[in-house]
Amino acid sequence: MFSRILGTGGYLPSQVRTNADLEQMVETSDTWIVERTGIHERRIASKEETVAFMGIEAAKKALEAASLNASDIDAVICATTSSQNAFPSAACEIALGLGIGNVIAFDVAAACAGFSYAYSVAHNMIMCGQAKKVLIVGSDTLSHACDPTDRTTIILFGDGAGACILGASEEPGTLAVKLSSDPSCGELLRLPVPKRPNCASPDDGSPYLYMKGTDVFVHAVTVLAKLVHETIELAGIKPEELNFLVPHQANMRIIAATARKLKLDMSQVIVTIDKHGNTSAASVPLALDEGIRQGRIKRGDNVLLESFGGGLVWGSALIRY
Ligand code: UT7
Repeated sequence: MFSRILGTGGYLPSQVRTNADLEQMVETSDTWIVERTGIHERRIASKEETVAFMGIEAAKKALEAASLNASDIDAVICATTSSQNAFPSAACEIALGLGIGNVIAFDVAAACAGFSYAYSVAHNMIMCGQAKKVLIVGSDTLSHACDPTDRTTIILFGDGAGACILGASEEPGTLAVKLSSDPSCGELLRLPVPKRPNCASPDDGSPYLYMKGTDVFVHAVTVLAKLVHETIELAGIKPEELNFLVPHQANMRIIAATARKLKLDMSQVIVTIDKHGNTSAASVPLALDEGIRQGRIKRGDNVLLESFGGGLVWGSALIRY
């Protein structure tokens, strides 16, 4: 028995924020942003395009790709750190929007690594027989969590949702999953929950996302280099048998460094950062969906998914698509 991806989908808001738009908002330049990050533009969610709304749209496309009805799904997991409510969870709202009742539904909070964590939970639910078909959604609106006057973060984040359906299968499948964290580095990347009256609140600082970019960069490059090799070893394949890398889209220089460690040609790496920016938990499923819909990733390919984010947390999955 294996768990295997049955279908994928994605959703991006229609509003585009280009580097030229950002030049009007903060002291920055298209040249700086492209050279340091690889980002040219990102999408910005409207008020109506909530985490749940975008997740529903991405899920509909994944269901269509898998030739399944919503009623076939027996668990919904949403990776997010920017949904509207603590409860009902975004997963419950997505289930409601898809018209599914009597379903396991919950959110996973692991920042930009959320999809890897959600994938691992879904895989294990299938392997222990708790569910047969799990809808995994990564959906975030972190552009709205950034201080619009802070050039170190506002240039990075975009909004979107990606989805995939993982199902029980006799064919492989998920070959390996790995998760880890370094909680001692939590202060490097932080997003406070909004302050509420009469509630204990951790600090009186800025309500916006804070990132010590260079430190996070160094951790990401170091951790991911180790993670990808360990995941390949765990999967029992040779590095040269890897067909594609679907990395978290945080910085083009991090993506290129990880590809170099794996001796992969950039044509074997799915890159969306130029058009999406960093969409947090949505970045890996959106890139995976794009790679599949473009016909680049094909059935039978060995594909390594990896992500890294605030916590610090990181995770990977090596799949045979
Ligand atoms: O998804 C979660 C995980 N996140 C990541 O993995 C992100 C990791 N970090 C990064 O991607 C990079 O560190 C950044 C893109 C955030 C920053 O790039 P950097 O090469 O580390 O730049 P820096 O922070 O060292 O800044 C270099 C210079 C500074 O000026 P001085 O002190 O050298 O005069 C900054 O003030 O660039 C300046 N700077 C900017 N200049 C123009 C910082 N942001 C900007 C900007 N436009 N937007």
